[in-house]
Amino acid sequence: MLDAAVRERLAVVGAGHVGLVYAAGLAELGHHVSVLDIDRDRIAALRRGIVPFFEPGLGDLVKKDLAVRRLLFSSQPGEVLKGAKMAFICVPTPSANDGGLDEGPMRRALQTIRRFSRRDRPIIVTKSTVSVGMNRYIKDLFRDRKVPVVSNPEYLREGSAMHDFFHPHRIVLGSDDGDAMAAVAKLYEGIDGPVFTTDPVTAELSKLASNAFLALKISFANSIARIASSNGGDVAETLRILGTDPRIGPGHLRAGLGFGGACLPKDLAAMEHLARRSAAPYELFAAAQAINRDQRQHVVDILTAKLMSLSGRRIAVLGLAFKADTDDVRESPSLALISELLDTGANVVTHDPMVKLRASSNGGVFATQRRSAVEAAKGAHALVIATEWPQYGKLDLTRLRRSMKGDLLVDARGVLEPAAARAAGFDYVAIGT
Ligand code: UGA
Repeated sequence: MLDAAVRERLAVVGAGHVGLVYAAGLAELGHHVSVLDIDRDRIAALRRGIVPFFEPGLGDLVKKDLAVRRLLFSSQPGEVLKGAKMAFICVPTPSANDGGLDEGPMRRALQTIRRFSRRDRPIIVTKSTVSVGMNRYIKDLFRDRKVPVVSNPEYLREGSAMHDFFHPHRIVLGSDDGDAMAAVAKLYEGIDGPVFTTDPVTAELSKLASNAFLALKISFANSIARIASSNGGDVAETLRILGTDPRIGPGHLRAGLGFGGACLPKDLAAMEHLARRSAAPYELFAAAQAINRDQRQHVVDILTAKLMSLSGRRIAVLGLAFKADTDDVRESPSLALISELLDTGANVVTHDPMVKLRASSNGGVFATQRRSAVEAAKGAHALVIATEWPQYGKLDLTRLRRSMKGDLLVDARGVLEPAAARAAGFDYVAIGT
């Protein structure tokens, strides 16, 4: 805990995944943090300590810091921004139609900050992933008041975001204003992680490049997996051997259904857009996106080859979340697969330990959902594991097989032991093993 002299009054704009994790983390470090969001229902729930999504550890911290009044939630900009020493922008930057990032929410947040912090000069800190040039845009917008701007990109992974806040691989600060950067760096005192102070463009680009590289690694792994399986090689072993080289590293080298989520797909597209805008080679980024899309088609192709036609066939899809340990379905590869299966005329029955499919949250995908994996598998001609939930690795495979009509199991996340699946009577096809 900080001594009273270094505790700051901070504003966080945006109560989404990034904003809430940072708000709770900064409050836990001892700062007084007020969070602004335009969604009144969300704010009302947060005031009662209810976090609107699943993130391990976040709910407990929110409740604890609400109780000691280091966290405040409001939809009134004046209440949050007045007197704040810094304003953290944590609003979404979704994909725009041209593949770049839609900076509309960012611009609206900036207008709000501009209007409601008129008597103050808060340091504006951008946490949202932005394209190169946002820091300069903000500086121009606030030129009359000479408001300092610092890029401080976030590197949190959903599902382990609280852990990532307290144990970062790096803290990156980019600004033309050394004093402002030092003030933001001071906030993180007590957190152990290397701090990089640099110029704004470098900070902005390093975040986008980091997500783009993670996405490239996954598409590379998926390409190698396809080559390994068509030549009788062991996919997982090939990738494991590759990852032991410290120049390559084992992370994000799991083959499977491809990457999804609110970040990797849109940041890879934004990287391609930026490369084109910069007259730099963009083909690498474009290819990684095409490979990612093709992974879903690859699963549909495997099912079609084995079942002849998918029309009228019952397919059980286990896992809806874009990855394990989250209830997030944004850009979920599983939902994209389900949608492609429905297009073929298949009947899709699903299960997820955490996600409840609702018409409003699933991008228009309508499939039946069951309360357990075995119930979902009942009467199915084929079963696909689409999310790497650890519990799917512990399923009673004999019971699962008995409840099905057919014997085809496509393990698109490599969670099962191939020998165990075959011993249970499955025609087992893996993508990641
Ligand atoms: C990603 C980055 O990992 C974070 O560093 C970054 O801060 C965050 O985006 C962001 O910009 O906010 P996240 O979206 O939570 O984090 O998800 P990842 O853990 O990177 O996984 C993304 C997708 O790739 C998932 O669908 C996952 O199943 C898939 N994946 C991951 C693979 O297919 N193979 C792997 O080896 C790893």
